[in-house]
Amino acid sequence: MNADRPREIGETIAEEIRHRGPMRFDRYMELALYAPGGYYDEQPIGAGPAGDFVTSPHVHPVFAQLVAEAIGGLYEAMARPEPFDLIEVGAGDGTLLRATLPEIADQPARVIVVERSPGARATLATIAGVEVRESLPDASSPALVLAHELLDNLPFRRIVTTSDGARELHVGLEGERFVEVLEPVADIEPAGQGERVVPVGAASFMVEALTGPAPRALLAIDYGSDRGAGGGAHGYAGHRVIEDLLAAPGQTDITAGVDFGFLAETARAAGMQAFPTVSQSAALMANGFEAWLRTELEHQQDQLNSGRGADAVRTWGGRSRASMLVDPAGLGRFRWFVATTPGVAEPEWLASAREPRSATEP
Ligand SMILES: C[S@@+](CC[C@H](N)C(=O)[O-])C[C@H]1O[C@@H](n2cnc3c(N)ncnc32)[C@H](O)[C@@H]1O
Repeated sequence: MNADRPREIGETIAEEIRHRGPMRFDRYMELALYAPGGYYDEQPIGAGPAGDFVTSPHVHPVFAQLVAEAIGGLYEAMARPEPFDLIEVGAGDGTLLRATLPEIADQPARVIVVERSPGARATLATIAGVEVRESLPDASSPALVLAHELLDNLPFRRIVTTSDGARELHVGLEGERFVEVLEPVADIEPAGQGERVVPVGAASFMVEALTGPAPRALLAIDYGSDRGAGGGAHGYAGHRVIEDLLAAPGQTDITAGVDFGFLAETARAAGMQAFPTVSQSAALMANGFEAWLRTELEHQQDQLNSGRGADAVRTWGGRSRASMLVDPAGLGRFRWFVATTPGVAEPEWLASAREPRSATEP
């Protein structure tokens, strides 16, 4: 993908460094992913079975069905405002949206999809009844914003602890090569040791999503934790993890676990509320995953009993694929994060998905 483009985006980045000196990592990420020639700039887009990564909506349509349940529960918690915008941001190839739309058909919502990637927008424009935009629309109604695997791709800063204290990772040039440059940092505390990934892009996006006519809510699903990113920055290309994020800008996705604790603090500082995250596994269970599995099992037994062996095998295959969504060692570890304007109640499914908090947690 982007085979003939990296030199272009690399040149854009190099030029800016030549003019202004080393750039902060979030700026590098902004250009490498989203500037013309960047990773998300052209088709085919990275997500989806043919791309560089497969996300939960591609695993089984029951994921979208249960996300739609969660949206319904959140809409109830918002006291069913009308008119109402349902906005999916970073919808990629539209797999989640396509499968969610029939499930939310009874909600009186204007459905808007926001994508930065022109390639993805072209694909999304083929979905009927949906408004496609490049950026969040001016907020004119209460809204529920859905972001699936978006936040980890929004530009982040990287703070490292060195023997000389905290330093911020910048990208500089050595000849034609991009290199890491450490600069002093004053406005962000480092982690105890190693690297701290600070999701500044995700935080600005959240505040923007929650600014406008209330009530508003954001449901974001991503990997990460309530206490730090849970790992360093890395990349993906061709289903493989890439450690060197400077070698081929434009050819590599750049991502890191989301520090939801930082987002929650930012939400509160902006007068909004954020609930602690729950695991995807618990969230899907709370929205009916087990009941769905039971129904599928009954269906499979009926198929076997009526001599439709091939159909029964297909149903079994679907059930086992769907189980990947709640696998505690895989997609089930993802976190579901809800932030809202003040006064929105915690949705029932979120309260029931909440794991018992350990005695050591504050
Ligand atoms: C990792 S993909 C996820 C796609 C899809 N949600 C899925 O789960 O398969 C992230 C998507 O977010 C889009 N994106 C990144 N920043 C965005 C922004 N500020 N506004 C809208 N879309 C954005 C990218 O173009 C990309 O398609």
